[in-house]
Amino acid sequence: MSTYIVEGGRPLEGSVRVHGAKNSVLPILAACLLAPGECVIHNCPELSDVRASLDILRRLGCRAERQGEAVVVDASAPTGWEVPDALMREMRSSVIFLGAILGRMGQAQLCAPGGCELGPRPIDLHLAAIRALGGAVEEAEGGLRCSGRLRGADIVLSLPSVGATENAMLAAVSAHGDTTITNAAREPEIVDLQNFLNTLGADVRGAGSSVITVRGGAPLHGGEYTVMGDRIVAATYLAAAASAGGEVELTGVDWRHLSTVTAVLREAGCAVESRAASIRLGCRGPLRGVPPVRTAPYPGFPTDAQAPLMAVMARSSGCTVFVENIFESRYRHVDELTRMGADIRVEGRVAVVYGVPRLHGAKVQAADLRGGAALVVAALGAEGRTAVSGVRHIDRGYQSLEGDLSALGASIRRI
Ligand code: UD1
Repeated sequence: MSTYIVEGGRPLEGSVRVHGAKNSVLPILAACLLAPGECVIHNCPELSDVRASLDILRRLGCRAERQGEAVVVDASAPTGWEVPDALMREMRSSVIFLGAILGRMGQAQLCAPGGCELGPRPIDLHLAAIRALGGAVEEAEGGLRCSGRLRGADIVLSLPSVGATENAMLAAVSAHGDTTITNAAREPEIVDLQNFLNTLGADVRGAGSSVITVRGGAPLHGGEYTVMGDRIVAATYLAAAASAGGEVELTGVDWRHLSTVTAVLREAGCAVESRAASIRLGCRGPLRGVPPVRTAPYPGFPTDAQAPLMAVMARSSGCTVFVENIFESRYRHVDELTRMGADIRVEGRVAVVYGVPRLHGAKVQAADLRGGAALVVAALGAEGRTAVSGVRHIDRGYQSLEGDLSALGASIRRI
């Protein structure tokens, strides 16, 4: 059980390269199962969720191993179609394997992913997509059994779910015939998945827009691919620099994926410069409250950046309203920020942050991945020492939060 000890009040200075995107690499690892050959995935972050995905691939009879910054997956001869309960529980997004297992093996068995720290996380849209493609889905005893030969279909999502869009793409690639996914999610990670699938010989078009078409049934082969940089890790580091003050440069990430986040940070008083290959943020003085921040599907403000940004706005002049439109229970960091001296009131989906001039160190607990990162962001700008427990949540999405922040001059260590 690790804890971070952060001594606040040290400005951040320097440059950091952002690692590969967790939310890209998880569906890409699932996609490897579709290709009867070797896939080499570069810029693959070392995260507990990635390790869980590699365990799932091995359970399914694939070779899956890390080689430095890359992972190599060989799905020439998979033998299994079942994801055991323990692995489903370890990584709730393992439902992303459903479409790929069913497409490759003709059947799939998973235990239903339970509720999670962000509130109930239903998978009805994933299952509706599988059913539309001709898969039979039986739900029994907390488990799911799917089978059937898939054929192309028109899939209309009632909301642009990221995971359901990815599952539909993965299943449609191995279905016979053409599939259209309407009201698809438009996140950059979906574009990354499309690009990877096409590297394997698939014919997927339209990712990044609301309509994705898949010409299914093309013979696939292995391939080599480099995962995009993690825009949420980048948003967290920008928030860290805004909280602690100083000047940082981030490389390895596409600034266009961060434009809603950088716009808010600029409005708060940071100087942000986006270049082709880097983003620089400078913060020299106190920050001011900003107009309401409403989370929305991409290209709106990302729900995953809501907590880190709230940690920044907690120490500002004026008031900032947050409206969380994607997940129900995404304010679990608020009570912990309050322990550090923040003044935040929550009413349903709305959080009102009354900025205070200073935060102080405290003992706080991470309850989820981004909320945990937000506590570190707040601690960097707080007076004194903060102990953030529950670091295992943070390890799901940050390869080396303490390493990167220390390189920028922060005082943070893991005990
Ligand atoms: C993905 C990201 C997560 C991010 C989220 C929103 C991964 C591994 N995770 O999660 O970091 O916060 O997108 O950008 O990529 N919903 C349903 N039925 C479904 C599926 C979803 O009602 O079948 C609802 C969810 O409860 C939620 C909303 O749709 O309220 C959005 O969820 P979704 O886009 O599916 O998020 P994930 O793919 O789980």
